[in-house]
Amino acid sequence: MTGDSWHAPGRVNLIGEHTDYNDGFVLPFALAQGVTVRGGARTDGVLEARSAQAPERPLSVRVADLTPGAVTGWAAYVAGVAWALREAGHPVAGATLDIDSDLPQGAGLSSSAALECAVGLALCDLYSLDVPRAELARIAQRAENDFVGMPCGIMDQSAALLCTAGHALLLDCRSGLSAQVPLDLVGAGLTLLVIDTRAEHKLVEGEYAARRAACEEAAATLGVPALRDVTDLPGALARLEDAVLRRRVRHVVTENHRVEATVGLLRAGAVAEIGALLTASHLSLRDEFEISWLEADVAVEAAARAGARGGRMIGGGFGGSAIALVPDDRLTAVRDEIGAAYAARGWTEPAFLEATPCPGARVT
Ligand code: GLA
Repeated sequence: MTGDSWHAPGRVNLIGEHTDYNDGFVLPFALAQGVTVRGGARTDGVLEARSAQAPERPLSVRVADLTPGAVTGWAAYVAGVAWALREAGHPVAGATLDIDSDLPQGAGLSSSAALECAVGLALCDLYSLDVPRAELARIAQRAENDFVGMPCGIMDQSAALLCTAGHALLLDCRSGLSAQVPLDLVGAGLTLLVIDTRAEHKLVEGEYAARRAACEEAAATLGVPALRDVTDLPGALARLEDAVLRRRVRHVVTENHRVEATVGLLRAGAVAEIGALLTASHLSLRDEFEISWLEADVAVEAAARAGARGGRMIGGGFGGSAIALVPDDRLTAVRDEIGAAYAARGWTEPAFLEATPCPGARVT
């Protein structure tokens, strides 16, 4: 018996940015918004998919003919998952899939991973495949890396598949081990405000790949498998001649410690105290990793002026969303201050979303 529909959520990463492909730690939680797939299997080996967000560009392809590069645009995320499932030895074939999403695209909330994971769940269910979720996350990541051509880490797919309501997901991106960390915003009188900065974020462009390559180069120079293994930061920095690589390393190493500190505070029930770590993460992403963008900087600073406990850009960088941790009684003031800062610069108004940690992907 298969489900009628399959849903996978977008995510907010609380902290731990650009640490996943450095074998480090991340702490995302799932949003209420996401991608929903409806449909059924078919016997002719054809994969057909239609998206309510791109009705003019449907997908129709023979699954057996799929090769990287054969499909482009939004449909590559769908076809890529079918391809990656087969590459992993799971015999999926034709299907008709109707796709809808209530996640803003280009807002850095992982609409692509949500799409991959909803499709992955649908195909597994339709073909009665028992693929553990952590493995399905790796398959979806492979679809994005090798079929779409975006060298992302494992965070977004893991968030979509493994998060639970009321928690952030602490993921060790080396071992794959994860733990649910309570994130009780309501009990602490706090709102996690997501600010879609309206600067569209395009991951397939080269900056993400360049950051990843720089981290790998630094790790190779330091003789460690990944930057996660750097334990002596001053010692490592002294061995790197390139000032850019030194900045990249400083971000990754300190960010992993910020994840750890955040988890400690959350487990101690000191939610408001994580604000300072969020802001420290933002400064590190802005000044050391150099991936922030003006709208995010302005939003984070305006939020702090109006009483937020902290905030930061989230996601791959160069566009998308920022978050602010806001005491409930400062919420209106924070929104107004950000709105005013935008208006003063003549920018398109930002969009706000109040995020609550929701369940991961599900069959309904
Ligand atoms: C994107 C990638 C993730 C991760 C973040 C940065 O969302 O898909 O794998 O690297 O950027 O933390």
